[in-house]
Amino acid sequence: MIHILFFIFALLFTSSTNAVVNDFCVANLNKADGPSGYPCITPTKVTADHFAFSGLGVAGNTTNIIKAAVTPSFVAQFPAVNGLGLSSARLDLAPGGVIPMHTHPAASEILFVVKGIIKAGFISSSANTVYVKTLKRGDVMVFPQGLLHFQINSASTLVEQTTFLDDAQVKKLKGILGGTG
Ligand SMILES: *[C@@H]1O[C@H](CO)[C@@H](O)[C@H](O)[C@H]1NC(C)=O
Repeated sequence: MIHILFFIFALLFTSSTNAVVNDFCVANLNKADGPSGYPCITPTKVTADHFAFSGLGVAGNTTNIIKAAVTPSFVAQFPAVNGLGLSSARLDLAPGGVIPMHTHPAASEILFVVKGIIKAGFISSSANTVYVKTLKRGDVMVFPQGLLHFQINSASTLVEQTTFLDDAQVKKLKGILGGTG
């Protein structure tokens, strides 16, 4: 089975006051999250290891209803991105796999295809125009902030299928997608 692997980078446009007064603010995940991110751990305790994350080298488990997996490297997994306004994740799509239509209200997204061929698209909110592209290894696609978008691993899968989900499927999806967005 050929698995399709690609990365997704969500760029948040909310700037943090932490970034202005400090060089960085590695998250202290033991404290509560706030509007500008988590409080920082003590800068003298920060090492180079905090600024690297190795968790995206492992394929996610695509044995589920969407035949796809999201492996996050958000602040919870990679505390150094705290307050920087960006995060990343790995997506794996088995044949027939789909990341259903969703939106990130505060973030634009750049998708970089590492392996395989996928179809990806978004819908403009002003004219309801659908922009769909077939992407291959090495391609990037940008999804403007707040617009509904999707990714599928099948040239023959219809866009409409990505929105045909009943309530039970949506509940399952929240688990698979980590309860975000
Ligand atoms: C992948 O997930 C399925 C369904 O939860 C499970 O049965 C299977 O053991 C998992 N595979 C691996 C390699 O973890």
